Amino acid sequence: MNVLVTGGAGYIGSHTVVELINAGHNAIIVDDLSNAKADVVDRIQTITGTRPVFYELDCKNIDGLRSVFSAHKIDAIIHFAAFKAVGESVKKPLQYYRNNLDSTFALLEVMEEFGCKKFIFSSSATVYGPNNPHPYKEEMPAIQSSSPYGWTKVMIERILTDYVTAHPDFCAVLLRYFNPIGAHESGLLGDDPNGIPNNLMPYIGRVAAGQLEKLTIFGGDYPTPDGTCQRDYLHVVDLAVGHLKALEFAKDREGAEAINLGTGNGISVLELVNAFNKANDMDLPYVIGPRRDGDLPAFWADAEKAKNLLGWEATHTVEDMCRSAWQFAKNAGK
Ligand code: NAD
Ligand code: WQD
Repeated sequence: MNVLVTGGAGYIGSHTVVELINAGHNAIIVDDLSNAKADVVDRIQTITGTRPVFYELDCKNIDGLRSVFSAHKIDAIIHFAAFKAVGESVKKPLQYYRNNLDSTFALLEVMEEFGCKKFIFSSSATVYGPNNPHPYKEEMPAIQSSSPYGWTKVMIERILTDYVTAHPDFCAVLLRYFNPIGAHESGLLGDDPNGIPNNLMPYIGRVAAGQLEKLTIFGGDYPTPDGTCQRDYLHVVDLAVGHLKALEFAKDREGAEAINLGTGNGISVLELVNAFNKANDMDLPYVIGPRRDGDLPAFWADAEKAKNLLGWEATHTVEDMCRSAWQFAKNAGK
């Protein structure tokens, strides 16, 4: 298939492009490099031996998208491109709504013009909001979120669902990711945010590399077994493979389907730090600090639907995630 991958130079997108190429698909990347570096395309080529087509383009640029669709017969799109920093979205809501929603509108309009009917969307566990009990199941109400970023995911899920109602021959797969961490085994691709990381594993990587002094664990008094928050961390390569399964699923199907991509297990921040130390023979400095606003004590996926509908389940261990994350972090920026 010719698969248009928006945000394909980013963290999850780049790993997915590798899996697409390895599976024999043609990947066409559209990324404006607002949160990625152009050399990711070289790295993908080094790993796979194939250079994906790359357009440095803002997905909100509808004429630019038309040119891409004119140059390639696009069979499906995987839409990763978005702004994703939860805290920043609280301070800059308009930028988040504009970027994440307008990109989606532009893509849908151009897809309609060119008769492309398969849409795989990067949604998030954040759509379950603060009130659902875990494990989160897809049939739970997913109409809540605690940040403008999260609301963009809720809204885009809704927009895609309404679009499918109007166009019953269209297929939208709404993949709700839990907490992707880890990196490609080559050490060439990984999560390398600009500035001080907000997310746990990139922060741990910078501490391990000596670029930051210590990790602050946000809260040690949560109602969890060791007092720190629990999340469903999954290996980014497992997540990437989930997109291939979603493409296969969408090929002969119509309608909108929300599917969790997680392991089904929750582990705590402290457990993850200990696993990182064990996997990499380290002793990471950390302190327990105050809670971070907006964090939920614990959540993880019910992973059954992905298994039943996509034939997908996570195969990498926490140790794999920690080892590969360090393999990447120690070389990042070099
Ligand atoms: P990322 O920032 O590494 O990748 C997103 C990519 O999109 C970047 O390369 C960026 O340059 C590009 N981009 C942003 N706006 C664009 C635009 N208007 N036009 C073209 N390119 C644009 O983020 P990621 O972690 O790889 O996340 C990918 C997707 O998965 C996002 O939609 C994100 O919201 C979603 N998601 C991520 C996580 C996570 O923990 N990483 C969890 C759930 C969902
Ligand atoms: C994980 C745990 C923190 C940093 C976010 C988004 C979510 C999704 C994934 C996109 C929490 C703790 C973190 C640190 C810490 N993204 N932590 N010290 O908050 O579960 O999810 O990313 O859709 O929408 O909200 O991920 O990696 O930020 O935090 O103690 O320096 O690590 O409190 O318990 P989170 P995270």
